[in-house]
Amino acid sequence: MSNSALDRKSRVWWRDSVIYQIYIRSFADSNGDGKGDVKGIESRLGYLKKLGIDAIWITPWYPSPQKDHGYDVSDFMDIEPDYGNLDDAKQLIAKAHELGIRVIIDLVPNHCSDQHKWFQAALSAEPGSKERDRFIFRDGKGANGELAPNNWQSVFGGPAWHRVTEKNGKPGQWYLHLFAVEQPDFNWKNQDVKEYFEKVLHFWLKLGVDGMRIDVAHGMIKAEGLPDVPSDPKLLEGKPMPFWDQDGVHEIYKEWRKILDSYPNDRMAVAEAWVSPASRIARYLRPGELMNSFNFDFMGSKWDKSNMVEMIDRSMQALAEVGAPSSWVFNNHDVTRSVDRFDLGLGIGGGTTAERHGDGSKLNIERGVRRARAGALLMLALPGVAYMFQGEELALPEVRDIPDDRITDPSWKQSGFKNKGRDGCRVPIPWQISDSGSHGFSTNSKLGKSDSWLPQPKYWGDLSVEKQETDPDSTLNMYRKALAIRKSEVSLGDGPMQWLDLGGNVLAFKRSEDFICILNFGAEIELPIHKDVLISSAKLNGNKLPTDTAVWLRA
Ligand code: NOJ
Repeated sequence: MSNSALDRKSRVWWRDSVIYQIYIRSFADSNGDGKGDVKGIESRLGYLKKLGIDAIWITPWYPSPQKDHGYDVSDFMDIEPDYGNLDDAKQLIAKAHELGIRVIIDLVPNHCSDQHKWFQAALSAEPGSKERDRFIFRDGKGANGELAPNNWQSVFGGPAWHRVTEKNGKPGQWYLHLFAVEQPDFNWKNQDVKEYFEKVLHFWLKLGVDGMRIDVAHGMIKAEGLPDVPSDPKLLEGKPMPFWDQDGVHEIYKEWRKILDSYPNDRMAVAEAWVSPASRIARYLRPGELMNSFNFDFMGSKWDKSNMVEMIDRSMQALAEVGAPSSWVFNNHDVTRSVDRFDLGLGIGGGTTAERHGDGSKLNIERGVRRARAGALLMLALPGVAYMFQGEELALPEVRDIPDDRITDPSWKQSGFKNKGRDGCRVPIPWQISDSGSHGFSTNSKLGKSDSWLPQPKYWGDLSVEKQETDPDSTLNMYRKALAIRKSEVSLGDGPMQWLDLGGNVLAFKRSEDFICILNFGAEIELPIHKDVLISSAKLNGNKLPTDTAVWLRA
């Protein structure tokens, strides 16, 4: 197995790649129905090639009632009809491969849709039946079973249990749903479930996908006896919550690794495991387990030098112990976009609801964009893999004015209409300047922006791909240049790094004797001696590096 000690040509691809996340519903709509689709992705492969990414990760494209936009899967071995069909998927994979772009899909093993045939069978079956055993059904507490089996809360708000009506018309057992009510959790101690997902893996690997992003990778195994969460987190005594990060999940990944390795061309899996600290992430990346795991601690870092340095150091140390590459990420479809976060000083879960979802009157967008661009050069220079989210290359901000009646995130309803959720980062991509239609998101030119599944802001034409194409200093062109340099610069991607002390509020490191990355969080500084400026995230002031600016130097 290749490792970071080898040179880049001999290293396996998932140690060095830049992976671009496509939120399929919002990327490109080829059939004019206001929702993105598989053919839409295919139509934009040329754009992705020119951008310079190595792989795409496509969010769930399976048949789904879309209660959580595809993360509620009703059939794991087909394509959502709104998005296309299996032939479209095969063609997309083939075309991407022709261009040298790898394809990662999203596997959702913790739960399914309540419309999945297994769950429907479980509902019609008796308590204690083998159909119910594929899920987590329990009798309720209280004299008549009227109380939930334990005190677990759903990630989207409210209790994590829902009571069903039995065939006799009476209230009956409860089932566990860590997410939406329509997303029942599988029972991973059930053999059918294990075998089913092995089939699902083989199905897609045979179809030619290069990897899987594993949704809620830390959630499949629940603590024995489903104990209550203690009222005081201290009582957990450092142990994880009873539904997250249980040792048993690693047994699943050991089996899956064997399956991945049984296919040619280095198939991979990346864990979506919201676990901390980095030493817990490292457990998912031990030899014989998974290949990448998103670095959410880093994603949550504030615009602050010491916070970032600490996150980088911790991750590098923990992952070095298991010989795995770090997977840097600043954006995805679940968090407020970095333009807003970095300006407002928010962590990913931080800030008040008003800061995250308010009108944005406190937002200094120019500064947010400046910081997001500097952050991008930092991320792309760090050792390991980088994951970016569609629209990040356009420096899209969070959309804060989606009307309440257009919000679709299940958190909105489940939180009693308090938490507006994640729609603000999921607004369809503006491809064209024109404000007539959906800024080129849809091929249906009659489709107004408010007809796309989420409405796009009127001003987004100014941020569109078409507009940014023509501006050499645009964020899009900065990403293209940075990704091209990253490709040719053999010291980038996985490999060693060394901190440099440039004093003050300056984060700086070397990737080789002649490659330096500097990000200045503080007052303007003089650049150290160098031969050449390879790229900067904003204009330099002569030989000075302004505040909130990053630069790559040839030393
Ligand atoms: C994590 C996904 O990223 C998120 O969008 C989804 O709602 C949950 N998992 C549940 O599947």
